[in-house]
Parts: sequence; C-alpha cells; structure tokens
Amino acid sequence: MLIKDTNFIDLPVFIKGKVRDVYKVGEDKLLMIATDRISAFDVVFDDLIPDKGRVLNGISEFWFDFCKDIIGNHLITTDVTEYPMGLSKFKEELQGRSMLVKKVEMIEVECIVRGYLEGSGLKDYKATGKISGIKLPEGLKQADKLPEPIFTPSTKAKEGHDINVSFEYVKEQIGEELASAIKEKSISLYKKAEEYALSKGIILADTKFEFGILDGELVIADEMFTPDSSRFWELSDYEPGRPQKSFDKQYLREYLESLDWDKTPPAPRLPKEVIEKTRAKYIEAYERLTGKKFIP
Ligand SMILES: Nc1ncnc2c1ncn2[C@@H]1O[C@H](COP(=O)(O)OP(=O)(O)OP(=O)(O)O)[C@@H](O)[C@H]1O
Ligand SMILES: [Mg+2]
Repeated sequence: MLIKDTNFIDLPVFIKGKVRDVYKVGEDKLLMIATDRISAFDVVFDDLIPDKGRVLNGISEFWFDFCKDIIGNHLITTDVTEYPMGLSKFKEELQGRSMLVKKVEMIEVECIVRGYLEGSGLKDYKATGKISGIKLPEGLKQADKLPEPIFTPSTKAKEGHDINVSFEYVKEQIGEELASAIKEKSISLYKKAEEYALSKGIILADTKFEFGILDGELVIADEMFTPDSSRFWELSDYEPGRPQKSFDKQYLREYLESLDWDKTPPAPRLPKEVIEKTRAKYIEAYERLTGKKFIP
C-alpha cells in the first residue's frame, strides 16, 4: 500500500515534515509514520516511492537496537497490534512504516558527526581550514576521510537552513555536562555504525542525531542513520576528490539535473524508471545494512 498522507489518523498532529507525519498519542507518546513521499533539493514530489516509508522505518528500528548498548532510545513498539487509541485497526496502513515512541524533552541541538569531508563541512573547510572551529589538516580533498570523526552541531532554524554552531555555543546553551554527553554519545554512535556499515560495503559519511531527556536520562529520539539523516556512499565507487554518488537519490538527482527545472515548487512528475530505480536503491540499503530480506 502506498501512503502519501495520513489524514485517516484522527489524532492531534504533532508535526508533519517532508517525509514523516507525527501524531500525539495522549500526553506522553507520539506516533511517527514514515510516508512514501520523497524530497530532493528540499522540494517534496507528488510521486511516491513504493515501500520507501517501510524501508526508512525499518532502518531506524535496526539502528536503535544495534546501538542500545551505547544509549537508550524513544522506541516503544513497531507492532501495530500493540498501539493504543484504536490505532491497531490501521494495521494494513501502518505496519512496518510507523513507530510508537515516548515523547521526550528534546535537546534543541542537531548533533552532526562527520567522518568525511562533504556538504557544509567541505564549504567551511575550503573557506577557513576549519569546521565548526575544529582545525583540520591542510590539503584535504572533497569526500576525504577525516583523521577522526568530528562533532559539528547545528541549531534548527525556524525557517530555511540550519545554522552551524560551535561546541562552545552548545555548552553555553545547554550546560557543559549535557553538551559533553551528547558529543561523546554522538561520536561513539557514529564510530560504531560507520565501522559496521563499511563491513557491508557502505560508507556512512556523516549523520545527524537528535537527543532528548526521558525521566532524567539522555536518550536518542527522532530517527537513526537513515538515508534522510545521513550520507551513505557506495564503498566500491568511492573516490575522494569528486562528489560521491548519493546511495539513495542518485538516479533522482541525476534525472532532475538533466531537466530544465529550477528546483523550486512545483516539482516535476517522475518517470517510472526513476521511481523504480530509486525504490530498488532504498531496498538495497535496507537489505545490506540490516542483513534482512525486504518483504514487499
Ligand atoms: N521522541 C520524541 N519526542 C518529542 N519530539 C520528537 C521525538 N522524536 C522526534 N521528535 C521531533 O519530531 C519532529 C519530527 O519532525 P520531522 O523530522 O518529521 O520534520 P522536520 O524535521 O520538521 O522536517 P524534515 O522533513 O526536514 O525532517 C522533530 O521536530 C523532532 O525533533
Ligand atoms: Mg527532521
């Protein structure tokens, strides 16, 4: 079943993002639903990618479990039959693409870890030799592996792109102890996942986490190491000094670049072939990372 919107859910909306719809379940829980929507260049498309929501949700679920020795998380269950508030009647729509989570007090810092030089990190490095105030060796090329993974936090802008901030700034905002804790956890999580992904032939170039506080404890919330929150590259195609192909949106981006489209809404319709190849890439990411067969 393809899911574009989730208006059939009769609960208060917590937030509707580009890809996920989140509902309030009572006072202390949230229902997170990954739709089959896709975005590129920050524009959401009319066309859907079949199974994408289930892939994204499944990848997050895998990592929450894989990393639970480092940190606890917000997940309660992904089994729709255990959902409260009559939600279990939407088993067909929700199973596999949703999770019931504990609502936590979010820490307003986007915890970015970079193991490779790309994106806004590359831009900063080229301009200043540093990223978020961290001095890096001279002469690094685009997509080079950094000597050590670095923590380069940002804050969510109300509008437009996130703003990179220094670790000092984070300390001032949330206190030294908590700032150090999220930095240390972020780097440990990245190292563990990067090493594992490499063993599956995938480079996890960088990623973003969101932490929260639950009953006084630091936990990981939101999503974890999905193609939406991370850069995945194909190891066998890796070559520093040029842009790497994005694992999931490579065909989509290449197709869009071939069009005369200015990357502002409305988005163009997508040909069947682009949809199919994009879908296959998502499924491949799921299968290689989780070691499980994806069952459509
Ligand atoms: N357990 C949780 N408790 C409370 N809030 C959470 C929890 N997990 C995630 N969130 C918040 O829920 C929201 C999820 O929104 P979502 O990521 O779908 O949209 P977005 O970040 O606004 O847009 P985008 O589509 O660009 O990601 C985020 O604001 C996130 O901080
Ligand atoms: Mg988000």
